[in-house]
Amino acid sequence: SQYQKGVKQLVENGLHAIPNKYILPPSDRPAMNSEASNVAKKNLQLPIIDLSELLGPRRPQVLQSLANACEGYGFFQLVNHGISDDVISSMRDVSGWFFDLPFEERAKYMTNNMSAPVRYGTSFSQTKDTVFCWRDFLKLLCHPLPDFLQHWPASPLDFRKVAATYAEEAKYLFLTLMEAIQESLGIIEDETEGEDNIMKELEDGSQMMVVNFYPPCPEPDLTLGMPPHSDYGFLTLLLQDQVEGLQIQFQGQWFTVQPINNAFVVNVGDHLEIYSNGKYKSVLHRVVVNAVKSRTSVASLHSLPFNCTVRPSPKLIDEENPKRYADTNFDTFLAYVTTREPKRKEFLESRK
Ligand code: SIN
Ligand code: FE2
Repeated sequence: SQYQKGVKQLVENGLHAIPNKYILPPSDRPAMNSEASNVAKKNLQLPIIDLSELLGPRRPQVLQSLANACEGYGFFQLVNHGISDDVISSMRDVSGWFFDLPFEERAKYMTNNMSAPVRYGTSFSQTKDTVFCWRDFLKLLCHPLPDFLQHWPASPLDFRKVAATYAEEAKYLFLTLMEAIQESLGIIEDETEGEDNIMKELEDGSQMMVVNFYPPCPEPDLTLGMPPHSDYGFLTLLLQDQVEGLQIQFQGQWFTVQPINNAFVVNVGDHLEIYSNGKYKSVLHRVVVNAVKSRTSVASLHSLPFNCTVRPSPKLIDEENPKRYADTNFDTFLAYVTTREPKRKEFLESRK
């Protein structure tokens, strides 16, 4: 049907009202104009973590801020992260250019195969969603890069080179953050431990990049760019542009995350929630759209290798802190998390 071609196609064909396919039931709508969300919007300031400070003499204090952010918000903004403006702006450029390609060119990557190295699509879960979301996306598997790079789009010019550099730098940043997170949890790893060494597993872990495109929407109050969900992995590093749209749940309300130029919005995923035995929280978030501007974001999702078992760190479990989650097979887990809320929370609960 026409909806399978995505929202960019729909908008380019000209429309003044959104099709029924995108209209959420009233209880699921973003209610952007409600007083509550306006008040909330003014008040939320996500914790800001400065990576250059984390790597300097103030590390102990910054580790404490990092722990507070992961416990209290499940989110923080990362500044002075060391990825150059040049790498970031090139990634933004090629992302934009990809969505500017003729539809037929983008459509080459449409597939229902969830483990395809490249997947172009629309909505949240195209095969499962009854109401569609106002989003088109490009998903790229990134690890191991030499296996996948040849399958990535060769057009626009330099896409592969730029996206590969960005992916590698994001991975390195993820590992740097995970070392800090380990330390903030009080986990000290023994180099000789082998099997139990999570950093080794993460180095060889899965990485997926998702480039999201949200065109202007004529009726933004009736739909969402992404429904409420949490991310499956350890951490997600998100690059958003200057157009607001990401909202996170905090104390039972939705708050908009104010864009900070070239900062990463970093969030705790389900696997880190499990690994931390529930200390760090994987928090629900969603995307709202607007009538005026298109918005582009690039998310890099990081976790263990796809065949791994996810379990609470044995180092966080003792008599006072019993194990709160059962060991979980990654595949079983993914099958659940690709379905909509509240299924996933139910699943997480059932693993406790
Ligand atoms: C997400 O990946 O959940 C949010 C992406 C965005 O802010 O566009
Ligand atoms: Fe997400």
